Amino acid sequence: MNLIKTTALICVSATLLFSACSKQHNDSRNEGNTAVDSVQMNAGLLAFQKNCMSCHATGPSGNTSVAPTIDQVAQSYLQDNSTYESFLTDFTQFVGSPSTEKSKMPESVKKYGIMPNMSYSAEVVDAVAYYLFHSDRSASDWYAKDEAIYKTEVPQISPAEYGKSLALQTKAVLGKNLLNAIKTRGSHGAVDFCNLRAINLTDSMSNHLRARIKRVSDQPRNPRSQASKDELRYLTDGKEKIKNGIKPSPLVTEFDKHYVGYYPILTNEMCLQCHGSTQSDIAAETLKAIKSKYPEDKAIDYNSNELRGIWVVQWEK
Ligand code: HEC
Ligand code: HEC
Repeated sequence: MNLIKTTALICVSATLLFSACSKQHNDSRNEGNTAVDSVQMNAGLLAFQKNCMSCHATGPSGNTSVAPTIDQVAQSYLQDNSTYESFLTDFTQFVGSPSTEKSKMPESVKKYGIMPNMSYSAEVVDAVAYYLFHSDRSASDWYAKDEAIYKTEVPQISPAEYGKSLALQTKAVLGKNLLNAIKTRGSHGAVDFCNLRAINLTDSMSNHLRARIKRVSDQPRNPRSQASKDELRYLTDGKEKIKNGIKPSPLVTEFDKHYVGYYPILTNEMCLQCHGSTQSDIAAETLKAIKSKYPEDKAIDYNSNELRGIWVVQWEK
């Protein structure tokens, strides 16, 4: 499948949602319902595809390595809400700022950790809610059917933007898991987590997103993450830019059959407990854990806002 074509850039603008020429769509699946607005269904399908589908697969049971399927999510919210208004309220409140208190899926929270706050706009969340409330998911291949019905004109997303969304989503999952590990085990315990899980998680996101995604650095902790010659060139250049007060921007290169994107990874305060000064930032116990797992560690002595490495994302045309 061509990922770029099927991944749509959506501007859910008022014109799109409430356009005067909005056709009413009625098919046998919606009999008995008030008419479903096909323009809103189209907007919702695209918003779901672009923002949610990377983590929430479709189908009764899909690839559930990072999150429950959207079928399971929708089911939990429909169970509790018979009207669209109450469904919309519960749904938008959770997605707007996910918390355990608001969760209707405690089992999922236990299994995957709470959904990261992705700062979606209200338009995106409303559009997805409309779509999920009104789509008919009784057949296991409902999503393919919906694409055929509702996905008419698909605006194209630029390669740079597509690659960035892949990197951001991987980062969100990794970051969420890292925070959970620090919370439950402290930073020295989380070193174990990073050691065992970071590469696996990145791999599982890669499978999930059907792209190749890795993190590399010019000063790697894990020798497997050593940057290649091209990657090093970007890193050297990026560091120079930061020195001059310029934020390095992503770099996307087009090849015959695929794209490769580099997306900078900057440090913040939180990173310093494992990547900062060995004198003042990293606790003795943490340093011991790091040294024993990574005898060749080079990933120390960073400050905030420095170029720690890059996401390298490769995806097919
Ligand atoms: C980076 C991965 C990721 C992305 C992207 C993502 N989600 Fe989630 N979502 C999760 C995980 C993990 C859970 C399960 C844990 C939980 O329930 O919080 C979840 C659960 C949910 C739940 C159920 C929450 C509950 O516990 O009651 C809703 C609703 C939801 N997601 C909506 C969305 C919508 C809408 C989008 C897109 C606009 C989206 N998600 C994008 C990871 C993601
Ligand atoms: C709890 C300790 C800990 C914290 C906090 C932490 N890291 Fe790491 N980081 C590690 C460990 C351990 C590895 C090696 C993982 C592996 O084996 O792949 C690593 C690896 C990396 C890598 C891959 C390249 C390499 O050096 O192997 C990058 C990039 C990275 N970290 C960036 C960050 C950023 C950015 C932050 C803050 C947002 C951060 N880390 C916070 C422990 C941590």
